[in-house]
Amino acid sequence: MKHWLAAFTVPAILFVLPAYAADDAAIARGAYIFAAAGCGACHTDVKNHGPPLAGGRAIVTRFGTFYSPNITPDLVHGIGSWSLGDFRRALREGRGRDGTFLYPVFPFDSYTGMSDDDVADLYAYLMAQPPNPRPDRPSAIRFPFGFRPLLIVWRMLFFHAGPLQPVTGKSADWNRGRYLAEAVGHCQECHTPRNFLRSLERAHGYAGNPRGPDGLRTPNITPDNDTGIGQWSLGDIEALLKTGQTPDFDPVGSGMGEMVKGTRAAHRRRPPCHRRLSQILAAAPRHP
Ligand code: HEC
Ligand code: HEC
Repeated sequence: MKHWLAAFTVPAILFVLPAYAADDAAIARGAYIFAAAGCGACHTDVKNHGPPLAGGRAIVTRFGTFYSPNITPDLVHGIGSWSLGDFRRALREGRGRDGTFLYPVFPFDSYTGMSDDDVADLYAYLMAQPPNPRPDRPSAIRFPFGFRPLLIVWRMLFFHAGPLQPVTGKSADWNRGRYLAEAVGHCQECHTPRNFLRSLERAHGYAGNPRGPDGLRTPNITPDNDTGIGQWSLGDIEALLKTGQTPDFDPVGSGMGEMVKGTRAAHRRRPPCHRRLSQILAAAPRHP
C-alpha cells in the first residue's frame, strides 16, 4: 500500500510544483497590471469603507448613477464563477457573463486594447484575492438609457474591439508606453473630451475634458505650453505618476489621486514603464 501511495504521490508532486510556480508568477504580473489599470479605484467603495473590490462605489454621470459591481472571487455575488473567457470578454468586448452589454462607464473602450497575456495575469490576480459576499447594488440610470440593448447604437458607432496593435516603425519602448497610456492606464478616459453620446473625441486626445468624472474639469495634458503641460520636463511627468505631486508640489486630487495610488504601486514593480508612458505624453500632438 505504502509503495503504491509513494508511486502515486511523487509524480503527482512533480506535476503540481511547476504549475504552482507559474501561477505565482502570473499573480505577481497581474498585481502590476491591476495597479497600473486602476481597477481598485472604481470597484472599491473607499468613501464608505467598503471591502476591497466588493463594488458599490457610486459613479455619477449625466446618464445617472452607476454602482460598480463586486469583482472579488465570491461565487454568488462576485466573479468567482467566471471563466477566463468570460472575464476576457468583459474587458475586450464590454459584455457581462450572460452576454449583456456593459456600460462604457466601465472603461472597456480602453481595456479592449490589453493583450491576452495581461488579461490572463489580471484574472489570476483577481481570483487570488479574498472573496466578499457583498451583493451588487443596481445602478439608477435615467430613462431611456437604463435599457441596455440601446447600447448597440453606441457600440456600432464608436466601439472597436481588439488588442492594440503595435505601430510599425516605432521602437518597442514607444509602443510599450503607448500601450500603458491607451489600453492599461486608460488616460484618455478622463483626459480626452467626449461627444454628446459620451464617446471619446480621440482627434483631441489628452486635450482635457470640461466635464470629466464627478463633473470636474480634467486638465489638458498635451504638450501645449499655455493650456497643457508643455512646460513640464519628462522627469516632472514621471514624478507625478510616481509621487502624485506636480512640479509646484501640489498633490493631485480626485480621480488622479486614485490613479496615482495605482501608478505608484506599479512603478515600484516596474520602474521603466513610467518613463515610457511619460515619453508618449511629452510627444503627443499639442491641443490648446
Ligand atoms: C471608471 C470606473 C471603473 C474602472 C476603472 C474599472 N471598472 Fe470594472 N466596472 C465599472 C462599472 C460601473 C461596471 C458595471 C457596468 C455595467 O453595469 O454595465 C463595471 C463592470 C466590470 C465587470 C463586469 C462585472 C459584472 O458583474 O458584470 C468586470 C469583470 C470588471 N468591471 C472588471 C474590471 C477590471 C478588471 C478593471 C481594471 C482593469 C476595472 N473593472 C476597472 C467601473 C470601472
Ligand atoms: C479617473 C480619471 C483620470 C484618469 C484615468 C487619469 N487622470 Fe490624470 N488627472 C485627472 C484629474 C481629475 C486631474 C486633476 C487633478 C488635480 O488637479 O488635483 C489629473 C491630472 C493629471 C496631470 C497633471 C496635469 C496638471 O496640469 O496639473 C497629469 C500629468 C496627468 N493627470 C496624467 C495622467 C496620465 C498619464 C494618466 C494615465 C496613466 C492619467 N492622468 C489618468 C483624472 C484622471
